[in-house]
Amino acid sequence: MFEVIRNDILAPNVHRMVIRAPRIAKARKPGQFVIVRVEEGGERIPLTIGDASTKEGTITLFIQAVGLTSQKIVSIPAGLDLKDVAGPLGQPTEIKSWGRVACIGGGLGTAVLYPTAKALQETGNEVTTIIGGRSASYIILAEELSAFSREVQITTEDGSLGRKGFVTEELQDLIDDPARRPHAVIAIGPVPMMRTVAELTRPYGIKTIVSLNPLIIDGTGMCGSCRVEVGGETKFACVDGPEFDGHLVNFDFLSNRLATYHEEEARMLEQLPANLRARLVQVKR
Ligand code: FES
Repeated sequence: MFEVIRNDILAPNVHRMVIRAPRIAKARKPGQFVIVRVEEGGERIPLTIGDASTKEGTITLFIQAVGLTSQKIVSIPAGLDLKDVAGPLGQPTEIKSWGRVACIGGGLGTAVLYPTAKALQETGNEVTTIIGGRSASYIILAEELSAFSREVQITTEDGSLGRKGFVTEELQDLIDDPARRPHAVIAIGPVPMMRTVAELTRPYGIKTIVSLNPLIIDGTGMCGSCRVEVGGETKFACVDGPEFDGHLVNFDFLSNRLATYHEEEARMLEQLPANLRARLVQVKR
């Protein structure tokens, strides 16, 4: 059993949960994830390890409640337990001395970005962070990320905070300024955002790493559910990733794979009580 130490709401349906898991806290590296189960035989949910404290023996997970199981996870209050937390899984982020690095986070991708930005800054890189969301209430971790960033730029689609528009517009400005142009870009967020960032940096030859989010079931490279295409080869995000060279990722393949499960998700939503269904549909939009 894995005790929930804290459970805070960061944004609408986005929670930060601190879990007691000393072995994982000691072994994990930035970019790795765990698979969580709420109950015996329950659905397995992959979650990036946002942070860890070896002293406290805890890991921090950021969870967006977009389905029945994730809703169950965020409903667990401090003091109660999660049934299973397995990990750390996946390859750690490639932390190198790039020089100037732009860390781009969209929506909950900002939480996944957090440990990477921290590790990059600790390795001596100059980090510029650009985070975006639909509106001000969906912008998370701006203050925490500012501790590791030379600057944090915020964009919102409705203009309620920071620049009105998308993270890619802010990145273009960064690239256009020779004194601020990044040597590497890490982009984590919705597939269209990562694809646009990769296309934007391609002509400039800027190394671009993206974190892919296909369906993960076993997390051990056995089931094939997380397969993606990178550089014309099949890779498994759970053991070969989740981070890959954005210029080599086949984003059409990824989008098609993700769309495969939309019908199944819709059927599951239909089975939920009306009030919970309304909340989840709102979050998905
Ligand atoms: S989740 Fe099964 S192979 Fe990756």
